[in-house]
Amino acid sequence: MDQTYLMIKPELVADQVIGEILKMLTDNRFRIVRMELKQLSAETVKEFYVEHEAKPFYGELVSYITSGPVVAVQLEKDNAVKDLRTLVGATNPAEAAPGSIRYLHGRSLQNNGVHASDSDPSAERELGIIFG
Ligand code: PPS
Repeated sequence: MDQTYLMIKPELVADQVIGEILKMLTDNRFRIVRMELKQLSAETVKEFYVEHEAKPFYGELVSYITSGPVVAVQLEKDNAVKDLRTLVGATNPAEAAPGSIRYLHGRSLQNNGVHASDSDPSAERELGIIFG
């Protein structure tokens, strides 16, 4: 079965909306394989977002993701990566489809609520970084 990675970002954890996000996942037939509330280190987050290392927002992104605990979720479903990206919506919440997680819970390009892996190789890499 296909696997993917979802990360509920610090502001949604702080706002206690984890339950709503998990319900959206299970309602859409994702199976939660592993889940942890985790305070990530700057080192881990830098490696996780290494593809954005040269971007001007990289430092801010690392500070933001380490500003509080995240909920790291390993998910299983047929077509997991594609179906999760659809459920999550566009990176920018202003462009996310109505009903998507980022439409409902995202606030800005940075505070977009959740991260979802963008390909099977990314999912494998990200699950390895977060869960070892
Ligand atoms: S880009 O510009 O195409 O590389 O952006 P994208 O791949 O869509 O987004 C990558 C992640 O970086 C975050 N991001 C930002 N953070 C802070 N400031 C700005 N301007 C910004 N632009 C993008 C964005 O939330 C994406 O995080 P994830 O965790 O992948 O959703």
